[in-house]
Amino acid sequence: MYDLILKNATLPDGRTNMAVGVTDGVIRTVAQGIEQAAGKVIDVIDAKGYLLSPSFVDPHFHMDAAMSLGQPRLNRSGTLLEGIALWNELKPKLTFAAMVERALAVCRQALVQGVLHIRTHVDVCDPRLEAVRALLEVRRRMAPYLDIQLVAFPQDGYLRCPEARVNLERALDMGVDVVGGIPHFERTMDEGAASIRALGEIAAQRGLALDVHCDESDDPMSRHVETLAAETCRLGLQGRVTGSHLTSMHSMDNYYVTKLLPLMAEAQLHVIANPLINLTLQGRQDTYPKRRGLTRVPELLAAGINVAYGHDCVMDPWYSLGSHDMLDVAHMGLHATQMTSMEQMEESFSMVTTRGARVMGLQGYGLEVGCNADMVLLQARSTIDALRLRPPRLYVIRRGRVIASTPEHRPVLQLEEGTSELDMTSTAYLQQ
Ligand code: FE2
Repeated sequence: MYDLILKNATLPDGRTNMAVGVTDGVIRTVAQGIEQAAGKVIDVIDAKGYLLSPSFVDPHFHMDAAMSLGQPRLNRSGTLLEGIALWNELKPKLTFAAMVERALAVCRQALVQGVLHIRTHVDVCDPRLEAVRALLEVRRRMAPYLDIQLVAFPQDGYLRCPEARVNLERALDMGVDVVGGIPHFERTMDEGAASIRALGEIAAQRGLALDVHCDESDDPMSRHVETLAAETCRLGLQGRVTGSHLTSMHSMDNYYVTKLLPLMAEAQLHVIANPLINLTLQGRQDTYPKRRGLTRVPELLAAGINVAYGHDCVMDPWYSLGSHDMLDVAHMGLHATQMTSMEQMEESFSMVTTRGARVMGLQGYGLEVGCNADMVLLQARSTIDALRLRPPRLYVIRRGRVIASTPEHRPVLQLEEGTSELDMTSTAYLQQ
């Protein structure tokens, strides 16, 4: 007895003609062909050979600022620092209702793109904690559809902002899930390191994860990630700590990186790169060549470190574009990191699915028997085909129930020799 069977699906590992049977929101069967998965069935979706993936994961986002583009003005320099200044102009004017409305709008966009798990930072430097209240409300309202983790993020510096220390603890008391930080925005390198020590201790005492905006600059000497790794080991937080951005690693001395990577692996740090944002924010003071401002993704992966991609921003003071499509993010990431071999492109897909789930510590994530039936059917023939096309999400399924659907994209070509429908998909990558 199944509530739902998806038949004739291709899975991310390349298996074709697969059927996935779901009961009570949980995957009960994953089998070749429909026969083995048969029985009494309430609903059947024919996947027509298209790719069935576990739902997309965005482990790094800023939902409190999303969709605020142009309020109160645009970022003229395109830099991180002007974005922070602009956000500070808007912060006192933020209202609970407007923030909930904007956040729900971006959540709806995420859902139709098949993103069902988001870790969002929430600024705790506003003494009213309006953003925290708003995003707790959004987390509650979206819970049936979207796993939302909140990170207490002291945007103006944990030590630099006078209210941040008290407010961060207040936010955690209110139900925020993860401890955040921004050491490269503290007044000095020493204070940045001190902030990591203090934040690590809070995470250890409260039994929480730590996710730090770390070294988001072009400064080759910004080495807070070293402190983050060392503190993780000192406090026994291995596997619970994430370094977000790490763009300074792009500019670091190669010899130093050979020492740093094993230290990060020892601490079992997770890393999140945000290619859409950091390709545009970084390198703004460079003439030519301009640095890409992305951390060393293939080298981190080769060192055994879990790396995922985040969307970071959608239409906010730091980034004017975005539609919360994690395939856009992976597409940009694989170009910027030159991860273009077949294996690396497949890995890029995992960086917006399974690797992001590991960052968030999601339980029951995946397409195996016993996992939550959180899935997306893409109009593509393989993971690489999905990256190439960024195609329609035909069905988005949350706990076994269809919550969003998009018609197949079938462009019609009208030439002299006749009219035809074009199938843009390709099975070529399955044969490699
Ligand atoms: Fe961020």
